[in-house]
Amino acid sequence: MKPVKVGICGLGTVGGGTFNVLTRNTDSITARTGRQVIIEQVATRRGNPACDTSQTPVTTDIFDVAQNPDIDILVELIGGYDVAKDLILTAINNGKHVVTANKALIAEHGNEIFKAARENNVIVAYEAAVAGGIPVIKTLREGLAANDINWLAGIINGTGNFILTEMGDKNRPFEDVLQEAQELGYAEADPTFDVEGIDACHKLTIMASIAFGIPLQFNKAFTEGISQVTPGDIQYAEDFGYRIKHLGISRKTEQGIELRVHPALIPADRPMANINGVLNSVVINADAIGETMLVGPGAGSEPTASSVVADIIDIARNLETPASMPFPLGFHSDSMQPTEVLSV
Ligand code: HSE
Repeated sequence: MKPVKVGICGLGTVGGGTFNVLTRNTDSITARTGRQVIIEQVATRRGNPACDTSQTPVTTDIFDVAQNPDIDILVELIGGYDVAKDLILTAINNGKHVVTANKALIAEHGNEIFKAARENNVIVAYEAAVAGGIPVIKTLREGLAANDINWLAGIINGTGNFILTEMGDKNRPFEDVLQEAQELGYAEADPTFDVEGIDACHKLTIMASIAFGIPLQFNKAFTEGISQVTPGDIQYAEDFGYRIKHLGISRKTEQGIELRVHPALIPADRPMANINGVLNSVVINADAIGETMLVGPGAGSEPTASSVVADIIDIARNLETPASMPFPLGFHSDSMQPTEVLSV
């Protein structure tokens, strides 16, 4: 079978990790996919990316990748809104499948992007957009597809959890820990997104859309971050037998779907209270399974790359038979119910 040709746009923390995982695990990926997956081109303006591109064609213009007729899958890892959206829409209009880790873009412009994808019969996959290396999108969309989901709740920002953990366990100042999270490649380009709950809200919006079959409605969610949590708050909580965790919660109610992101007190003996550092965790409550809890690294180069590459493999597996599985990776279809999200 013909190889699958991938173009990677952006070689930052996640792009470099994606390049390295795809290159290092090429044999097992070929075995799992049934065909070779080749990095045909990368687009970067970095003089010194965290991967060896000496054997790969490099361009400084991301739109070269979107228009390259040889490329089957464009991987968008540049982040941000306007340019990333233009890039993805250009790729879709050129008949390419897209893999992205861009939760901000999917949460706020996903409805438009998925519409374009449906019209062009291509897939837009975004496992890496939520909870880094935890396969939560696939779990909600595939693993739990038989269930009626009641609610989900999670620690879904690695930077925020790292800050709360280090402030609580080691009494470190907020700014110090945030700086370390930036150096470790956990934080967003604009770390306000992490500490003010915006990043978590993007992820919650995406999860709720899949779990409850509703369009993405980021603007209706209640959002509060961790920037006002003090070491004193953490200590008082500890004294009363609680831990402070930043949670994203989405719940089905009779009035609609509730979406909220805020710090919460959790009894110290509960599993979620003991998810520390950059780890993320999502608990899903559903009618058939009862409850399940996923735990894993929520940010970082290769954990996030793991999810990007999993999407590439999924698309590559289905490339020969797209007509039989038109949107195997996107729940987003015309049949979604326009259920209102509650403003809380
Ligand atoms: N800044 C994000 C986080 C990266 O800390 O969780 C992963 O989405």
